[in-house]
Amino acid sequence: MMKVDERRIEELLGKLTLEEKIGMIHGDGLFQTKAVERLGIPALKFSDGPMGVRKEFRRSEWINAGTTDDYVSYLPSNSALAATWNTELAYETGKVLGTEARGRGKDVILAPGINIKRSPLCGRNFEYMSEDPKLIEEMTVPLVKGIQENDVAACVKHFVANNQETERLWVDTIVDERTLREIYYPGFKAAVEEGETHSIMGAYNLLHGVHCCQDKYLLNEVLRDEWGFDGFVVSDWGGVHDTKEAAEAGMDVEMSVTPNFDEYCFANPLLEAVKAGEIDESHVDEKVRNILRTMLRLNMLGEDREKRKTGTYNIPAHRETVLNAARESVILLKNDDQRLPLQRKGLKKLAVIGQNAEKIHSDGGGSAEIKALYEISPLMGLKTKLGGNVEVKYAKGYYIPSEQEQRELNWQHHSLERKQELTEEEKQEALVKQRKVEEESKKQGQVLLEEAIALAKEVDEVIIIGGLNHDYDVEGQDRKDMLLPYNQDRLIEEVLKVNPNAVVVMVAGSPVQMSTWADKAKAIVWSWYAGMEGGNALAEVLFGDINPSGKLPETIPVRLEDSPAHKYGEFGKKESVTYKEGLFVGYRYFDTHGVDPHFCFGHGLSYTDFEYKNLDVTVLEKETGSNYGSDDDVQVTVKLSVKNIGSVDGAEVVQIYVADKEASLERPVHELKGFTKVFLKAGEEKEVSITLRQNAFGFYDPELKCFKAEPGEFEIQAASSSRDIRLTKAINLTKEYRYQ
Ligand code: BGC
Repeated sequence: MMKVDERRIEELLGKLTLEEKIGMIHGDGLFQTKAVERLGIPALKFSDGPMGVRKEFRRSEWINAGTTDDYVSYLPSNSALAATWNTELAYETGKVLGTEARGRGKDVILAPGINIKRSPLCGRNFEYMSEDPKLIEEMTVPLVKGIQENDVAACVKHFVANNQETERLWVDTIVDERTLREIYYPGFKAAVEEGETHSIMGAYNLLHGVHCCQDKYLLNEVLRDEWGFDGFVVSDWGGVHDTKEAAEAGMDVEMSVTPNFDEYCFANPLLEAVKAGEIDESHVDEKVRNILRTMLRLNMLGEDREKRKTGTYNIPAHRETVLNAARESVILLKNDDQRLPLQRKGLKKLAVIGQNAEKIHSDGGGSAEIKALYEISPLMGLKTKLGGNVEVKYAKGYYIPSEQEQRELNWQHHSLERKQELTEEEKQEALVKQRKVEEESKKQGQVLLEEAIALAKEVDEVIIIGGLNHDYDVEGQDRKDMLLPYNQDRLIEEVLKVNPNAVVVMVAGSPVQMSTWADKAKAIVWSWYAGMEGGNALAEVLFGDINPSGKLPETIPVRLEDSPAHKYGEFGKKESVTYKEGLFVGYRYFDTHGVDPHFCFGHGLSYTDFEYKNLDVTVLEKETGSNYGSDDDVQVTVKLSVKNIGSVDGAEVVQIYVADKEASLERPVHELKGFTKVFLKAGEEKEVSITLRQNAFGFYDPELKCFKAEPGEFEIQAASSSRDIRLTKAINLTKEYRYQ
């Protein structure tokens, strides 16, 4: 990690009183700590979040400060970004986020969220990247670097195994060590070791009975001793529960959601405990060191302040980056009869059906919400693309009950409170209310359905734009099932009956069940909460100005029961959740156990075709190959040619999976170990080269307490998705390699 002059830290530390130090390590506002003005130590200013810099709140209330200067660029959510499989775009997006955070005067941006998508139902999936640790690593590192180039700290969250929202503050997660090491840690490890993230946010949940924000093993042993992290750890807001445990565990800054700042564990309780000799002051000093070290890295202290980057926000260049990311995030799931792209020629009347065509998503989702400078909806994107000569007619298609649209403004203030079980009377009341909503929805829904069908009959082309919204993809609650809400299945089926050519677009942050209509639809497009230019990007893809190149960063199962966490009934439980599927998350499960997904990991079509050829794999094992050697001990160079054999330019994500043919412990049938996105003009051919190191071959051995790559046969697979393996080559490793 970036070296700083530690003497400056010690010098300042020596001058600080205990009270001043305490002020630096807990919230003195919902998003800031206390400054020590006499020594020129500023407050640390935090902001959410992953899709752009959040609006300003009052210091101690979750109420909009009411300013009009906090509109920002709305960036594609991490799920969208991951779908681009473009590491350069991750870096560019990071730069935008970092510049805007600095421009808004922030020191720490609470992003990215990189938790593994273990279940399709996690309410925050839209904020996260993938089910696969390698894809997460590869996208997180440049994203963090891009952010931090602006003298702003990234804050990679939530460490660790924070994979459900149900009882998120109290649920105990039970995950075996090997699974933690192979699936849940790698993104964080890479963020520390390669991304050099300045901060990490602890998770709300417990891991093996200990709150992650107070876990010595996680925060001291793994994060600091093993990975060498020397930045600071901030709690999730309200994630600290016990003063002593957290103080001794390597938690550095306690933040929370309530305004009783002096009562936080790291405020008066810690001050008193130190004075009483119950907690050693050295723990406080260590926290202050970590904060000061980060401040030095961010040029926040003394004369360094003069050279601190200033940042800016909302500049046109940011919109360009955001548009590029949105374009590459769109995934073409199905395209029978080359239904897409739609032709502008001869098109006179276009029907756009479904509320996600016009829904604004930037202002929802929980702490990811932002005040976007603007958000181009799909409908606006289509209209501005087609102009005045095409009649674009819109029908809502489905009914969204108004109750669901509202979330209490101040919701975060109450977010730590445990939901009480309802009394019988309350349950009855809720039931009556729900029935009323259902009746109303049925009535209104029928009207909108009929209107949509009538419209679909009278036009040249139909685009259905449905999916989810932030009533479902939202912090603090998980979805109950994978079904499309608002009776959309019926709408899509009925529209397809009257117009079998209708194109279906799903805008969502997590998988939905599509089995009732997917066979009947010729074209299905997956879009996301894709940022302020999302609607433009989608319109460009639908009309062929942009050739889609997104690939699924997660599996879309046919049914919820097919996905591993649910197969074992281990998701959404309130007390504790045991990750019984172990390593077999996402495609690792589907591909190993022969369960067919609806759309597999890594899948995404193009308007052109790519040919893979000449796979050549060379293996270099260094003579020294021995325990805990360097990463370079094994160097496997995978080369192949990819040719665009269609008539339009396009991009392909070449995925390299490794299959261990003779492992001493059970392993998934194959694992993603590298990828590259290659842009090819029509007819063009390029050679791509991907280098795999020893860590592409090993697995964690819980007895040896390290990773090991065993000698023997491995298959190198060059693939267009986890289930579309185009070329393979067997190689052998002759020695055993151990590494951390
Ligand atoms: C969320 C964090 C967020 C924090 C501050 C918490 O409830 O879990 O992701 O950064 O609030 O808003």
